[in-house]
Amino acid sequence: MGKLQVIDHPLIQHKLTIIRDKRTGTKYFREVVNEIARLLAYEVSREMPLEDVEIETPLVISTQKRLAGKKVVIVPILRAGLGMVDGMLDLIPAAKVGHVGMYRDHETMEPVEYFIKMPSDLPERELLVVDPMLATGGSAVASIDALKKRGATNIKFVCLVAAPEGVKVLQDAHPDVDIYTASLDEKLNEKGYILPGLGDAGDRLFGTL
Ligand code: URA
Repeated sequence: MGKLQVIDHPLIQHKLTIIRDKRTGTKYFREVVNEIARLLAYEVSREMPLEDVEIETPLVISTQKRLAGKKVVIVPILRAGLGMVDGMLDLIPAAKVGHVGMYRDHETMEPVEYFIKMPSDLPERELLVVDPMLATGGSAVASIDALKKRGATNIKFVCLVAAPEGVKVLQDAHPDVDIYTASLDEKLNEKGYILPGLGDAGDRLFGTL
């Protein structure tokens, strides 16, 4: 079973309260989402492997550490995932960015892939799939299905707010994928919104309310 890590650092809790507040406007919402994404990237990268490297400081030759693991791809699920990309790139600037687009078919209620663009060497890479809200888990599972079909083997899922229902769906479908979230909220409502949540993350990020 994939690990569920709730990154409830005080700074993150404070910033989450700001974006949950309905009075927070688009500009500030977008800034704080990126700030939280930056803090999440710090935690998600905590176990990245290191290797020794010999360098010359101004004083001596010294053996130090540098990142040694697979190259990172940040994969926002369109559209709301885009809001977390810049914050994560602040800490992992050499990462590539892939994109996955999913929409929900209104008749079947199933997520349908409409766009995917990824680097070619996916088996060699560590993927950080990002979406602010893990609600029903439908688009997270379908996105990760699509990425695995293209050869991805090393995937983490990073969100701001998760519902217990979505965590279970994702863990059941992809037990190899660790989930990182800033908050595990109470539940979904009958329309699939997370409670207490923060509303529609895409609309609040892009001002399409
Ligand atoms: N997507 C959102 O943007 N918000 C929710 O609460 C659930 C899904």
